[in-house]
Amino acid sequence: MEKTRHSFTGSLGFVLAAAGSAVGLGNIWRFPYLAAKDGGGLFLVIYIILALTFGFALLMTEVAIGRKTKQSPLTAYGKLHEKWKPLGILSCVVPAIILPYYCAIGGWVLKYLLVFITGEGAAAAGDGYFSSFISGTAQPIIMMLVFLAATAFIVFRGVNKGIESTSKILMPILFVLIIIISIFSLTITHTDDAGVTRTGMQGLGKLVIPDFANITFESFVTTLLDAMGQLFFSLSVAMGIMITYGSYVHDDANLKTSINRIEIFDTMVAILAGVMIIPAVYAFDGKEGMAASGPGLLFVTMPKVFTAMGGIGRFVGILFFAMVLFAALTSSVSIMEAVVSSFMDGFKVSRNKATAIETVVCLIAALVVCLGYNVFYFEAKLPNGSVAQILDILDYISNNLLMPIVAILTCILIGWVVKPKTVIEEVERTGCKMGRKRLYIVMVKFIAPLMLAVLFLKSVGLF
Ligand code: ALA
Repeated sequence: MEKTRHSFTGSLGFVLAAAGSAVGLGNIWRFPYLAAKDGGGLFLVIYIILALTFGFALLMTEVAIGRKTKQSPLTAYGKLHEKWKPLGILSCVVPAIILPYYCAIGGWVLKYLLVFITGEGAAAAGDGYFSSFISGTAQPIIMMLVFLAATAFIVFRGVNKGIESTSKILMPILFVLIIIISIFSLTITHTDDAGVTRTGMQGLGKLVIPDFANITFESFVTTLLDAMGQLFFSLSVAMGIMITYGSYVHDDANLKTSINRIEIFDTMVAILAGVMIIPAVYAFDGKEGMAASGPGLLFVTMPKVFTAMGGIGRFVGILFFAMVLFAALTSSVSIMEAVVSSFMDGFKVSRNKATAIETVVCLIAALVVCLGYNVFYFEAKLPNGSVAQILDILDYISNNLLMPIVAILTCILIGWVVKPKTVIEEVERTGCKMGRKRLYIVMVKFIAPLMLAVLFLKSVGLF
């Protein structure tokens, strides 16, 4: 058992680890699609405003809870208020549900990286390649195992030698890769078989120029809810992660500056992911390609775009999937760490034992997820109308149901039970001024729980 709680060596370690957690598949496969779908610039403006208000309040709350209690989610809520212990259990169940399917998808990313490295990108761009790969037995499982092993290895190594060192290496590389691919994407000019020429810069227009002509009240509300749901998953709040990472922050660290940097980094990467993907997809695939999101965008549309680029496409494909792999790995590490750290605090077991247990549990669940496209295949209909397999069901339960509930209850606990001063005092303990203080109080007491309730009702199809 660890006698003293480990902490990040400094603010940089914390900011990069938290940004590594925040920047993940959500930024890459959902943000660009939502931005293009929801009227380009309007979505971006709403997203940035929400990041500075709603996102700021939730992130600040969780990091402060972590640092104040020096506990991971399972025990942190109970330490704040005895009667709120059950919220700790719920908040620890969320990452435990997310990790298996995140590892399955991480395995798919690894597979596509290998496909482009070995020069089989053109085959991967063929119709049916992705569905035949995920419905196979051996390959998706082997890839998932490698991804899970890499995640577990980093968590085994601990806060400093594992999480912090990995983030310090991978995050700068990831950022450089995104910049390179974005610049490349903007310089594309492509003429299709019908003789129509489209450029990356025109595609950028679709991402950033607001489409005011088609705005209605209904579309505005949809944009607002889309931006909120996206921000929520993207900032890694309501998954126990930011409480865990907050518990590793030194008492003398300036929380306000660190939180601002995490917000800026995550939002910048999300926007850059849009700049990287939308112009390339528009130039090669037109407006139809921009309708893709999630696995369809990453594993079907993007390989087609890289193949259409010709010789250089293989190289761009390698850079792209390496970047996605790094983003997914730093996020999956944070998801596993939230569970492992909860075991350590809640059951007083060593890091090695806690990691071993969570790895085995995740392995079994991830096997079921992989086989959900094979022997366990079925089609379920979710309350929001979409047809789902096991992976989608786990995503729905965690993302659409449990995360809004955890966040609403956290706002009620902080806003009304222990009061916002608990967080404000924690942030200002080092002598720094919190800034946006009034905004924080109004957000955590009224606006955030209300907005989250609407998001929840929409998720369950009641709005
Ligand atoms: N925040 C992480 C993501 O966007 C979990 O994927």
